[in-house]
Amino acid sequence: MFELCASILAADFANLERDMRAANAAGVDAFHIDVMDGHFVPAISFGTGMVRTMERLTTKPLDVHLMVEKPLDFLPELEELGVKRVSVHYEIPGGPEAALVLNPETPVESALPYLAQISQLLLMTVYPGRGGQVYLPGSNEKIAAAKSLLQGQGSNTVIQVDGGITPGTLPGAYAAGARSIVAGSAVFYGNIYQNVCALRSEKAKP
Ligand code: DX5
Ligand code: ZN
Repeated sequence: MFELCASILAADFANLERDMRAANAAGVDAFHIDVMDGHFVPAISFGTGMVRTMERLTTKPLDVHLMVEKPLDFLPELEELGVKRVSVHYEIPGGPEAALVLNPETPVESALPYLAQISQLLLMTVYPGRGGQVYLPGSNEKIAAAKSLLQGQGSNTVIQVDGGITPGTLPGAYAAGARSIVAGSAVFYGNIYQNVCALRSEKAKP
């Protein structure tokens, strides 16, 4: 089994409520929310005001991915909103909180000092900053390396993957050890219900 997180970045912002309700009804487990500040990555997506709106539109957990230079500034409001999980990049100064994100070129061993503090390790399978990119080659090997690193440490930190997930790439990520899967365009482009079913039906056999 894996957790399917629908990445809001790929939703139609003009119809956010419609798309969130459709994904909700289609049975996604959580919503992945990419907050970008225009500094850590070139793009600006939305801030905590929009997260507040999204929180009203679903009862599913919110999984917030902070692509920002100053994540600590965002935490009090996210906490107040009852956000269940916040992912913070290794690459920013200030250190991790609850979940740690590694960019594609950052070796999995970089997570070692933080394993005791994190419940999730998010491996970027594209370069962060925009949706609809292609799953990077070598991602499955990196997931497998992270899995053996975690096992070797006796850690039960969950591996999450983000970027380029489709019904075609999901099984490889799952087989390599990812148990939380973020999908944006593969959920929101086209028929959301059919898309979610396609992602679910591709889940790797035990
Ligand atoms: C990329 C974001 C992703 C993005 C994924 O910076 O972190 O969450 O929305 O989009 P897809 O699934 O279309 O690659
Ligand atoms: Zn993300």
